[in-house]
Amino acid sequence: MAAVLDAVRAFFAPPAAPAFVIDTEAPADVVARKKSSEKIRRDRVPAEGLAIVARDRQGHVIGTVRLWNIEAGVSREGRPVDALLLGPLAVDAAHEGKGIGSALMRAAMLEARRREHGAILLVGDAAYYERFGFFSDKAQHLVMPGPFARERFLGLELKPGWLDGAAGMVVASGRKLSQAHMRRVS
Ligand SMILES: CC(C)(COP(=O)(O)OP(=O)(O)OC[C@H]1O[C@@H](n2cnc3c(N)ncnc32)[C@H](O)[C@@H]1OP(=O)(O)O)[C@@H](O)C(=O)NCCC(=O)NCCS
Repeated sequence: MAAVLDAVRAFFAPPAAPAFVIDTEAPADVVARKKSSEKIRRDRVPAEGLAIVARDRQGHVIGTVRLWNIEAGVSREGRPVDALLLGPLAVDAAHEGKGIGSALMRAAMLEARRREHGAILLVGDAAYYERFGFFSDKAQHLVMPGPFARERFLGLELKPGWLDGAAGMVVASGRKLSQAHMRRVS
């Protein structure tokens, strides 16, 4: 009898919630996903000399990478740590796998070094960016100003020890778009 009752209870029990569901993306999801890095980029101009493109023989843009001035938290002494945030890096799907992404990354890192920046942060696939020297331990005490995946938050020091002790939130420090516009028209 007990076994029959258990079976009846099990039959009428509410089903356990599934571990995940597949759904179409809603506008609110887009906002949540883009919040972090877009917050940094919104209304700002890229860091000087660090908006880089790849062009095909006809001059069409087939790849792009941009870097942004940020403060990567504060140092142990409480001073803002100047750095760059890289992104987006994108290559035209028709041209993927030809080394364009790597060439853009190398050009960006070279130019950032030439301009004496100390470090670059980014949010992206570690499997791709580790080859350029980006690792999550460099950003372990930093947070983005919105949702981000810790294992995708990576850093590279251009000057050894630049991110040592850097902790806190990443904030935009680049020139505002409106200021850049005023400069051009004045
Ligand atoms: C990621 C991206 C920029 C790479 O550009 P690309 O010009 O194709 O890159 P390269 O030709 O220099 O390098 C290709 C190599 O990277 C690997 N790769 C590409 N995307 C990768 C990823 N997300 N994770 C791990 N490896 C990746 C390829 O498998 C290939 O490996 P191989 O050299 O062993 O064959 C490009 O695929 C892209 O624009 N993707 C969509 C946007 C995006 O995801 N951007 C951010 C990356 S997190």
